Amino acid sequence: MRVLTIESNGIAEAVKLLQQNECVALPTETVYGLAANATSDEAVQRIFIAKGRPAHNPLIVHVTDFMAAQNLIYMNDTAQKLAARFWPGPLTIIGRLKDNNRISKLVTAGLDTLAVRVPAHKIFQDTLQQCGFPLAAPSANASGTLSPTTPQIVARGLAGKIPLILAAGITDKGLESTIIDCTNDTPVLLRFGAISPDAIKDITADLLIETNATDKPKSPGQLLRHYAPRTKLRMNAVDVDKDEALLAFGSTKFMGIKQGGSIDNLPPQKIKNLSETGDLDEAAHNLFAHLYALDESNSNGIAVMSIPDTGIGMAINDRLRRACHAQKQD
Ligand code: TXA
Ligand code: MG
Repeated sequence: MRVLTIESNGIAEAVKLLQQNECVALPTETVYGLAANATSDEAVQRIFIAKGRPAHNPLIVHVTDFMAAQNLIYMNDTAQKLAARFWPGPLTIIGRLKDNNRISKLVTAGLDTLAVRVPAHKIFQDTLQQCGFPLAAPSANASGTLSPTTPQIVARGLAGKIPLILAAGITDKGLESTIIDCTNDTPVLLRFGAISPDAIKDITADLLIETNATDKPKSPGQLLRHYAPRTKLRMNAVDVDKDEALLAFGSTKFMGIKQGGSIDNLPPQKIKNLSETGDLDEAAHNLFAHLYALDESNSNGIAVMSIPDTGIGMAINDRLRRACHAQKQD
Protein backbone atom coordinates (compact mmCIF):
# COMPACT_ATOMS: atom_id res chain seq x y z
CA MET A 1 0.00 0.00 0.00
CA ARG A 2 1.32 3.41 -0.99
CA VAL A 3 0.86 6.63 0.96
CA LEU A 4 1.09 9.73 -1.21
CA THR A 5 0.48 13.45 -0.73
CA ILE A 6 -0.64 15.96 -3.32
CA GLU A 7 3.00 17.04 -3.67
CA SER A 8 3.97 13.48 -4.63
CA ASN A 9 1.40 13.37 -7.41
CA GLY A 10 -1.22 11.74 -5.17
CA ILE A 11 -4.30 13.00 -6.98
CA ALA A 12 -3.15 11.78 -10.40
CA GLU A 13 -2.31 8.35 -8.92
CA ALA A 14 -5.66 8.21 -7.14
CA VAL A 15 -7.53 9.09 -10.32
CA LYS A 16 -5.60 6.43 -12.26
CA LEU A 17 -6.49 3.76 -9.71
CA LEU A 18 -10.13 4.87 -9.52
CA GLN A 19 -10.38 4.64 -13.31
CA GLN A 20 -9.13 1.06 -12.97
CA ASN A 21 -11.98 0.32 -10.52
CA GLU A 22 -9.68 0.20 -7.48
CA CYS A 23 -10.67 1.85 -4.20
CA VAL A 24 -8.47 4.47 -2.54
CA ALA A 25 -8.57 6.36 0.76
CA LEU A 26 -9.10 10.11 0.33
CA PRO A 27 -9.51 12.94 2.84
CA THR A 28 -12.83 14.74 3.19
CA GLU A 29 -13.68 17.56 5.59
CA THR A 30 -15.40 15.03 7.90
CA VAL A 31 -13.32 11.82 8.00
CA TYR A 32 -11.23 9.88 5.47
CA GLY A 33 -13.37 8.11 2.90
CA LEU A 34 -12.73 4.89 1.00
CA ALA A 35 -13.66 5.96 -2.53
CA ALA A 36 -14.49 3.96 -5.65
CA ASN A 37 -16.37 4.49 -8.91
CA ALA A 38 -20.04 4.44 -7.88
CA THR A 39 -21.12 3.33 -11.36
CA SER A 40 -19.02 0.15 -11.35
CA ASP A 41 -20.10 -3.05 -9.58
CA GLU A 42 -16.50 -4.24 -9.55
CA ALA A 43 -15.23 -1.04 -7.92
CA VAL A 44 -18.01 -0.88 -5.32
CA GLN A 45 -17.54 -4.54 -4.46
CA ARG A 46 -13.94 -3.74 -3.57
CA ILE A 47 -15.10 -1.23 -0.95
CA PHE A 48 -17.28 -3.84 0.76
CA ILE A 49 -14.48 -6.39 0.74
CA ALA A 50 -11.79 -4.01 2.04
CA LYS A 51 -14.02 -2.83 4.90
CA GLY A 52 -15.62 -6.18 5.66
CA ARG A 53 -18.89 -4.29 5.36
CA PRO A 54 -22.17 -6.22 5.20
CA ALA A 55 -23.71 -5.95 1.72
CA HIS A 56 -27.02 -4.68 3.14
CA ASN A 57 -25.43 -1.43 4.39
CA PRO A 58 -25.71 1.18 1.61
CA LEU A 59 -23.01 3.73 0.73
CA ILE A 60 -22.98 7.51 0.32
CA VAL A 61 -22.32 8.77 -3.21
CA HIS A 62 -20.16 11.89 -3.54
CA VAL A 63 -20.62 14.30 -6.45
CA THR A 64 -19.09 17.60 -7.53
CA ASP A 65 -22.13 19.86 -7.15
CA PHE A 66 -25.85 20.34 -6.76
CA MET A 67 -26.61 19.70 -10.43
CA ALA A 68 -24.80 16.38 -10.33
CA ALA A 69 -26.79 15.44 -7.23
CA GLN A 70 -30.04 16.36 -8.95
CA ASN A 71 -29.19 14.04 -11.79
CA LEU A 72 -29.22 11.18 -9.32
CA ILE A 73 -32.06 11.86 -6.85
CA TYR A 74 -35.35 13.76 -6.69
CA MET A 75 -34.79 16.76 -4.43
CA ASN A 76 -37.89 18.30 -2.87
CA ASP A 77 -38.03 21.88 -1.58
CA THR A 78 -36.44 21.00 1.73
CA ALA A 79 -33.64 19.07 0.09
CA GLN A 80 -32.94 21.99 -2.22
CA LYS A 81 -32.87 24.48 0.65
CA LEU A 82 -30.57 22.28 2.72
CA ALA A 83 -28.27 21.75 -0.24
CA ALA A 84 -28.15 25.49 -0.98
CA ARG A 85 -27.17 26.20 2.62
CA PHE A 86 -24.77 23.34 3.39
CA TRP A 87 -23.19 22.14 0.12
CA PRO A 88 -20.38 21.76 -0.42
CA GLY A 89 -20.05 20.49 3.13
CA PRO A 90 -20.75 17.80 5.72
CA LEU A 91 -24.42 17.14 4.91
CA THR A 92 -25.73 13.94 3.31
CA ILE A 93 -29.17 14.08 1.71
CA ILE A 94 -31.24 10.98 1.04
CA GLY A 95 -33.72 11.13 -1.81
CA ARG A 96 -35.56 8.77 -4.11
CA LEU A 97 -33.27 7.50 -6.84
CA LYS A 98 -34.07 8.68 -10.38
CA ASP A 99 -34.61 6.13 -13.15
CA ASN A 100 -31.87 5.65 -15.72
CA ASN A 101 -29.12 6.39 -13.23
CA ARG A 102 -25.80 4.62 -13.65
CA ILE A 103 -25.23 3.95 -9.94
CA SER A 104 -24.27 0.37 -9.12
CA LYS A 105 -27.05 -1.55 -7.35
CA LEU A 106 -24.49 -2.58 -4.76
CA VAL A 107 -24.25 1.06 -3.59
CA THR A 108 -27.90 1.26 -2.54
CA ALA A 109 -28.12 -2.30 -1.20
CA GLY A 110 -31.37 -2.68 -3.10
CA LEU A 111 -33.09 0.45 -1.68
CA ASP A 112 -34.94 2.82 -3.98
CA THR A 113 -33.30 5.76 -2.22
CA LEU A 114 -29.75 7.10 -2.45
CA ALA A 115 -27.57 9.04 -0.01
CA VAL A 116 -25.73 11.88 -1.76
CA ARG A 117 -23.17 14.41 -0.58
CA VAL A 118 -21.13 17.22 -2.14
CA PRO A 119 -17.88 17.25 -0.16
CA ALA A 120 -16.00 20.49 0.49
CA HIS A 121 -12.45 19.11 0.72
CA LYS A 122 -10.35 20.37 -2.18
CA ILE A 123 -8.51 17.07 -2.70
CA PHE A 124 -11.76 15.11 -2.86
CA GLN A 125 -13.31 17.71 -5.19
CA ASP A 126 -10.28 17.74 -7.51
CA THR A 127 -10.35 13.95 -7.62
CA LEU A 128 -14.08 13.92 -8.42
CA GLN A 129 -13.63 16.47 -11.20
CA GLN A 130 -10.73 14.60 -12.78
CA CYS A 131 -12.56 11.27 -12.58
CA GLY A 132 -15.78 12.52 -14.14
CA PHE A 133 -17.84 9.83 -12.37
CA PRO A 134 -19.45 9.89 -8.90
CA LEU A 135 -17.54 8.31 -6.05
CA ALA A 136 -19.10 6.01 -3.49
CA ALA A 137 -17.23 6.50 -0.22
CA PRO A 138 -17.93 5.14 3.23
CA SER A 139 -15.58 6.04 6.04
CA ALA A 140 -12.15 4.43 5.47
CA ASN A 141 -12.21 2.06 8.44
CA ALA A 142 -12.92 -1.62 8.94
CA SER A 143 -16.68 -2.06 9.41
CA GLY A 144 -17.81 -1.41 12.99
CA THR A 145 -14.67 0.42 14.13
CA LEU A 146 -14.13 4.13 14.72
CA SER A 147 -14.01 6.38 11.67
CA PRO A 148 -10.52 7.53 10.68
CA THR A 149 -9.54 11.19 10.96
CA THR A 150 -5.85 10.68 10.12
CA PRO A 151 -3.94 8.68 7.45
CA GLN A 152 -2.26 6.69 10.25
CA ILE A 153 -5.63 5.48 11.49
CA VAL A 154 -6.70 4.55 7.95
CA ALA A 155 -3.50 2.53 7.61
CA ARG A 156 -4.06 0.77 10.92
CA GLY A 157 -7.43 -0.49 9.72
CA LEU A 158 -6.90 -1.06 6.00
CA ALA A 159 -3.18 -1.63 5.31
CA GLY A 160 -2.77 -4.50 2.87
CA LYS A 161 -6.39 -4.18 1.77
CA ILE A 162 -6.21 -1.02 -0.37
CA PRO A 163 -3.57 0.22 -2.84
CA LEU A 164 -3.34 3.89 -1.84
CA ILE A 165 -3.93 6.43 0.90
CA LEU A 166 -3.88 10.05 -0.16
CA ALA A 167 -2.59 11.64 3.02
CA ALA A 168 -3.50 15.17 4.07
CA GLY A 169 -3.25 15.32 7.85
CA ILE A 170 -6.09 15.28 10.38
CA THR A 171 -9.53 16.02 8.95
CA ASP A 172 -11.20 19.30 9.82
CA LYS A 173 -14.58 18.38 11.34
CA GLY A 174 -13.61 15.01 12.82
CA LEU A 175 -17.17 13.61 12.72
CA GLU A 176 -19.06 12.09 9.80
CA SER A 177 -21.65 14.08 7.85
CA THR A 178 -25.13 14.70 9.23
CA ILE A 179 -27.62 12.53 7.33
CA ILE A 180 -31.09 13.89 6.51
CA ASP A 181 -33.69 11.74 4.79
CA CYS A 182 -35.66 14.04 2.47
CA THR A 183 -37.60 11.27 0.77
CA ASN A 184 -40.89 12.38 2.34
CA ASP A 185 -42.34 15.82 3.10
CA THR A 186 -41.02 15.92 6.63
CA PRO A 187 -37.22 15.65 6.74
CA VAL A 188 -35.76 13.08 9.14
CA LEU A 189 -32.35 13.34 10.74
CA LEU A 190 -30.97 9.78 10.66
CA ARG A 191 -27.42 10.40 11.89
CA PHE A 192 -26.05 13.15 14.12
CA GLY A 193 -22.96 14.58 12.49
CA ALA A 194 -20.80 17.57 11.76
CA ILE A 195 -23.81 19.90 11.28
CA SER A 196 -25.88 20.35 14.45
CA PRO A 197 -29.66 19.74 14.50
CA ASP A 198 -30.16 23.41 15.40
CA ALA A 199 -28.39 24.53 12.23
CA ILE A 200 -30.65 22.20 10.22
CA LYS A 201 -33.75 23.52 12.02
CA ASP A 202 -32.82 27.06 10.99
CA ILE A 203 -33.51 25.93 7.42
CA THR A 204 -36.38 23.52 8.07
CA ALA A 205 -38.21 23.84 11.37
CA ASP A 206 -40.18 20.58 11.06
CA LEU A 207 -37.30 18.17 11.52
CA LEU A 208 -37.85 14.69 12.95
CA ILE A 209 -34.98 13.02 14.74
CA GLU A 210 -34.80 9.25 14.38
CA THR A 211 -31.32 8.32 15.39
CA ASN A 212 -32.27 5.77 18.03
CA ALA A 213 -31.42 2.21 17.21
CA THR A 214 -34.28 -0.04 16.35
CA ASP A 215 -34.38 -3.56 15.00
CA LYS A 216 -35.09 -2.15 11.57
CA PRO A 217 -33.09 1.04 11.28
CA LYS A 218 -33.74 3.25 8.26
CA SER A 219 -30.05 3.95 8.23
CA PRO A 220 -27.73 1.13 9.24
CA GLY A 221 -25.58 3.84 10.83
CA GLN A 222 -28.29 3.86 13.47
CA LEU A 223 -27.31 0.39 14.62
CA LEU A 224 -26.15 0.86 18.16
CA ARG A 225 -23.05 -1.22 17.75
CA HIS A 226 -21.08 1.12 15.51
CA TYR A 227 -18.05 3.24 16.25
CA ALA A 228 -16.35 1.18 18.94
CA PRO A 229 -12.79 1.30 20.23
CA ARG A 230 -11.52 -1.91 21.89
CA THR A 231 -11.04 -0.43 25.34
CA LYS A 232 -14.13 -0.10 27.54
CA LEU A 233 -15.55 3.41 27.82
CA ARG A 234 -17.10 4.94 30.94
CA MET A 235 -19.06 8.12 30.22
CA ASN A 236 -19.71 11.09 32.52
CA ALA A 237 -16.74 10.14 34.68
CA VAL A 238 -16.00 12.40 37.64
CA ASP A 239 -12.80 10.56 38.58
CA VAL A 240 -10.28 8.12 37.05
CA ASP A 241 -9.63 4.57 38.19
CA LYS A 242 -5.92 3.85 38.58
CA ASP A 243 -5.94 1.47 35.61
CA GLU A 244 -7.97 3.75 33.38
CA ALA A 245 -7.00 6.37 30.81
CA LEU A 246 -8.74 9.75 30.76
CA LEU A 247 -10.51 11.41 27.86
CA ALA A 248 -10.93 14.90 29.28
CA PHE A 249 -13.07 17.83 28.20
CA GLY A 250 -12.41 21.33 29.56
CA SER A 251 -10.74 21.93 32.87
CA THR A 252 -9.50 18.87 34.79
CA LYS A 253 -8.92 20.67 38.04
CA PHE A 254 -11.61 18.67 39.88
CA MET A 255 -10.55 15.30 38.46
CA GLY A 256 -8.58 12.95 40.65
CA ILE A 257 -7.60 9.29 40.80
CA LYS A 258 -10.24 7.21 42.62
CA GLN A 259 -7.71 5.48 44.85
CA GLY A 260 -6.17 8.84 45.69
CA GLY A 261 -3.72 11.10 43.94
CA SER A 262 -3.67 13.65 41.21
CA ILE A 263 -4.28 12.92 37.55
CA ASP A 264 -0.93 14.60 36.96
CA ASN A 265 0.44 11.20 38.00
CA LEU A 266 -1.10 9.56 34.92
CA PRO A 267 1.49 8.84 32.21
CA PRO A 268 1.03 11.33 29.33
CA GLN A 269 -0.11 8.63 26.91
CA LYS A 270 -3.08 7.94 29.24
CA ILE A 271 -4.57 11.41 29.19
CA LYS A 272 -5.97 13.35 26.24
CA ASN A 273 -8.05 16.50 26.40
CA LEU A 274 -10.67 16.98 23.66
CA SER A 275 -10.58 20.72 24.27
CA GLU A 276 -8.96 22.43 27.23
CA THR A 277 -11.10 25.51 26.67
CA GLY A 278 -14.32 23.47 26.40
CA ASP A 279 -14.82 24.19 22.68
CA LEU A 280 -17.19 21.59 21.16
CA ASP A 281 -15.96 22.01 17.57
CA GLU A 282 -12.40 21.39 18.72
CA ALA A 283 -13.63 18.38 20.70
CA ALA A 284 -15.34 16.89 17.63
CA HIS A 285 -12.19 17.45 15.58
CA ASN A 286 -10.11 15.56 18.17
CA LEU A 287 -12.62 12.87 19.23
CA PHE A 288 -11.68 9.86 17.07
CA ALA A 289 -7.93 10.58 17.02
CA HIS A 290 -7.86 10.83 20.83
CA LEU A 291 -9.98 7.68 21.25
CA TYR A 292 -7.59 5.82 18.97
CA ALA A 293 -4.58 7.08 20.91
CA LEU A 294 -6.07 6.05 24.27
CA ASP A 295 -7.14 2.71 22.78
CA GLU A 296 -3.41 2.06 22.23
CA SER A 297 -2.44 3.00 25.79
CA ASN A 298 -2.95 -0.47 27.31
CA SER A 299 -5.48 0.78 29.82
CA ASN A 300 -8.29 -1.22 31.42
CA GLY A 301 -10.82 1.41 30.46
CA ILE A 302 -11.25 4.97 29.27
CA ALA A 303 -12.97 7.42 31.62
CA VAL A 304 -14.72 10.11 29.59
CA MET A 305 -15.62 13.41 31.22
CA SER A 306 -19.11 14.70 30.58
CA ILE A 307 -19.65 16.70 27.40
CA PRO A 308 -22.53 19.18 27.05
CA ASP A 309 -25.33 17.68 24.96
CA THR A 310 -25.85 20.78 22.84
CA GLY A 311 -24.96 21.61 19.24
CA ILE A 312 -22.19 19.39 17.95
CA GLY A 313 -21.96 17.90 21.47
CA MET A 314 -25.05 15.84 20.58
CA ALA A 315 -23.10 14.09 17.81
CA ILE A 316 -20.10 13.56 20.09
CA ASN A 317 -22.28 12.00 22.82
CA ASP A 318 -24.07 9.90 20.19
CA ARG A 319 -20.76 8.34 19.07
CA LEU A 320 -19.64 7.79 22.66
CA ARG A 321 -22.93 6.10 23.63
CA ARG A 322 -22.74 3.79 20.60
CA ALA A 323 -19.18 2.90 21.51
CA CYS A 324 -20.29 2.01 25.08
CA HIS A 325 -23.18 -0.06 23.79
CA ALA A 326 -21.04 -2.03 21.36
CA GLN A 327 -18.81 -3.09 24.21
CA LYS A 328 -21.72 -4.23 26.35
CA GLN A 329 -22.77 -6.56 23.56
CA ASP A 330 -19.31 -8.02 22.96
O1 TXA B 1 -18.86 12.11 6.41
C1 TXA B 1 -19.28 11.10 5.83
O2 TXA B 1 -20.49 10.94 5.60
C2 TXA B 1 -18.26 10.06 5.40
C3 TXA B 1 -17.36 10.68 4.33
C4 TXA B 1 -16.37 9.72 3.77
O3 TXA B 1 -18.16 11.23 3.33
N1 TXA B 1 -18.90 8.88 4.93
C5 TXA B 1 -19.54 8.02 5.76
O4 TXA B 1 -20.06 6.89 5.12
O5 TXA B 1 -19.66 8.21 6.95
P1 TXA B 1 -20.51 5.59 5.92
O6 TXA B 1 -20.76 4.57 4.88
O7 TXA B 1 -19.52 5.26 6.96
O8 TXA B 1 -21.87 6.00 6.54
C6 TXA B 1 -22.99 6.19 5.70
C7 TXA B 1 -24.25 5.92 6.43
C8 TXA B 1 -24.41 4.49 6.81
O9 TXA B 1 -24.88 4.42 8.12
C9 TXA B 1 -25.45 3.99 5.82
O10 TXA B 1 -26.21 2.97 6.35
C10 TXA B 1 -26.27 5.23 5.59
O11 TXA B 1 -25.34 6.26 5.57
N2 TXA B 1 -27.00 5.21 4.30
C11 TXA B 1 -26.47 5.18 3.07
N3 TXA B 1 -27.45 5.15 2.14
C12 TXA B 1 -28.62 5.18 2.78
C13 TXA B 1 -29.99 5.18 2.38
N4 TXA B 1 -30.36 5.14 1.11
N5 TXA B 1 -30.94 5.20 3.35
C14 TXA B 1 -30.58 5.26 4.64
N6 TXA B 1 -29.30 5.27 5.09
C15 TXA B 1 -28.34 5.22 4.18
MG1 MG C 1 -18.70 4.58 8.61
